[in-house]
Amino acid sequence: MTTKTDGLPAATISRPEAGVSKDSLTITDNRTGKTYQVPIQDGTIKAMDLRQIKVAADDFGMMTYDPGFMNTASCKSRITFIDGDKGILNYRGYPIEELAEHSTYLETAYLLLNGELPTKTQYEAWVDKVTTHTFVHENVKDLMAGFRYDAHPMGMLASTVAALSTFYPDSKKVRDATERSRHVYRLIAKIPTLAAFAYRHSMGLPYIYPDNELSYPGNFVQMMFKTSELKYKVSPVLEKALDVLFILHADHEQNCSTSGMRGIGSSEADPYVAAAGAIGALYGPLHGGANEAVLRMLQEIGSKDKVPAFVKDVKESGGDVRLMGFGHRVYKNYDPRAKIIKKMADQVFEVTGRNSLLDIALELERIALSDEYFVKRKLYPNVDFYSGLIYQAMKFPTEMFCVLFAIPRMSGWLSQWQEMIEDKDQKIARPRQIYLGSGRRDYVPLHRRG
Ligand code: CMC
Repeated sequence: MTTKTDGLPAATISRPEAGVSKDSLTITDNRTGKTYQVPIQDGTIKAMDLRQIKVAADDFGMMTYDPGFMNTASCKSRITFIDGDKGILNYRGYPIEELAEHSTYLETAYLLLNGELPTKTQYEAWVDKVTTHTFVHENVKDLMAGFRYDAHPMGMLASTVAALSTFYPDSKKVRDATERSRHVYRLIAKIPTLAAFAYRHSMGLPYIYPDNELSYPGNFVQMMFKTSELKYKVSPVLEKALDVLFILHADHEQNCSTSGMRGIGSSEADPYVAAAGAIGALYGPLHGGANEAVLRMLQEIGSKDKVPAFVKDVKESGGDVRLMGFGHRVYKNYDPRAKIIKKMADQVFEVTGRNSLLDIALELERIALSDEYFVKRKLYPNVDFYSGLIYQAMKFPTEMFCVLFAIPRMSGWLSQWQEMIEDKDQKIARPRQIYLGSGRRDYVPLHRRG
C-alpha cells in the first residue's frame, strides 16, 4: 500500500518479514538491490547506521542531508519538552503555565539545572549564591568604556560575557563538576549586571552597582533605571511580570542559540566563550532579535487601518517580508508562552498605561489567524509577538529587548551545556557536508591567468 502525508514523499507500507525485529527499519538500496536492517530506538535511527550502505567497498557510505536540522536529533535531553502541534512546553516535566503562575525565575533556573525543584534550604542557598555573585571586576567597566556610544547592547553583552573567560581561567576545567557549578552561578548572577552596564553606557549614565537586597528582576531594574534616589523602588507588578517573562524565556530545547552553546561547548571551550557565542546566535532577527523587529514592524505599520495592506505585502513578498513574531520551527499551534504574555499584558498596562501599539498587534493577529496564507502554514503568534509591547511599556528601549531574552536564557544554555558535558554519547560537533565544488585543479600563477 502507498500512502502520502502532507508535504512528505509517498511511502510503501508492508508487514515485516518473519524474524525481522519490529523495532527496526528495513532499507533497500535500489542501486545495489541490498537490504539493511537498521534498529529503531526512541523513534529514531542512528545516522551512523546508514554508513554501511555502500555501492562499493571504497564508497564513503550513506549520509543524510538536513540543512537547518529540520529532522535530526543532535542529543538526548531530559530538560525541556515541547509538543509543537499541541502547544505544550514543559521544563523538567512541569508545565510552563504552572511555573509562570507559582514559581520564580531563580527557582525555575535551579529546576532546569538540577532536574528537581529545590527544597526550601536548597532554594535559599541557591538564591544567596546568585545574589552574592552579581558584582563584576572593575576592569569590566574599562572594557565597556571602549565601546562607541551607539554600540548595540547585544554586541556589548556578547563581548563582555566572553571577556569574563579571562577573569576566570579555571573555567577551562569543564570536566570538573565543582568548577562547572561555580561558573554556572557566576554567569547567571552577572549577566543582569553586564546587561544593565551596557544600557547605562549607551545612555552615558553612570553604572549602578547591584543591590543584593532586591530580587533578581528587581535588582536588574534598579541597575537599569536608578538615578538619584537613595533606594530604588520597583513596582511589585512590574517586578513579578519581568520574573514571569524570565521564566518563559529560560529554555526552549535545541533552538539556534542553544545548539550554538552545545556546539561551541563540545570543543570543551569554557562556558563564558560558549555563552558569548550563544548570545551572538540569539541576536539574529529570526531568533531572539525578533521581539525588537516586531516593535519596529508595528511602528512602521503605524495604525490599525494599515494592517490589511501590510498583511497583503507579506503574502505577496514570497517570504521576503515576514510578519515578525509569527511562526515557529516547532510550534504549529499558538505558542503557550505568547498566550501567557498576552494575558499578562493587561496587568502591566494597568500600571504603565496602555501601549498604543497593542491595537495594531491585536488587529494583525486577528487578520492573520483568519487568513488562508497563515492558516495553511500554521503560523501563530510566538513568544516575541507580545513581549516587546510589555518591555516598551516598562520603559526598556527597543535595543534592550533581545538582552532581556538573553538574561534568563543563560540558565537554559548552561543546563544544556552541563547535560552535554556529562553525556557520554556526545562528541565534538562536526557536521558532514556534500562537496559539490570542483575536482582537483593545478594552481595557475597570477601572470598566466587571463
Ligand atoms: N511571516 C510570513 N510568512 C512566514 C513566516 C512569517 N513570520 N514564517 C514562516 N513563513 C512562511 C515561509 O515564507 C514559508 O512559506 P512557503 O512554504 O510558501 O515557502 C513557510 O511559512 C515556512 O517557513 P520557514 O521559513 O520554512 O519555517 P522555519 O521553520 O524555517 O522558520 C521561523 C521558523 C521562526 C524562522 C519563521 O517562522 C520566521 O521567520 N518567523 C519570523 C521571525 C520570528 O518571529 N522569530 C522568532 C521565533 S520565536 C523566538 C525564538 O525561539 O527564537
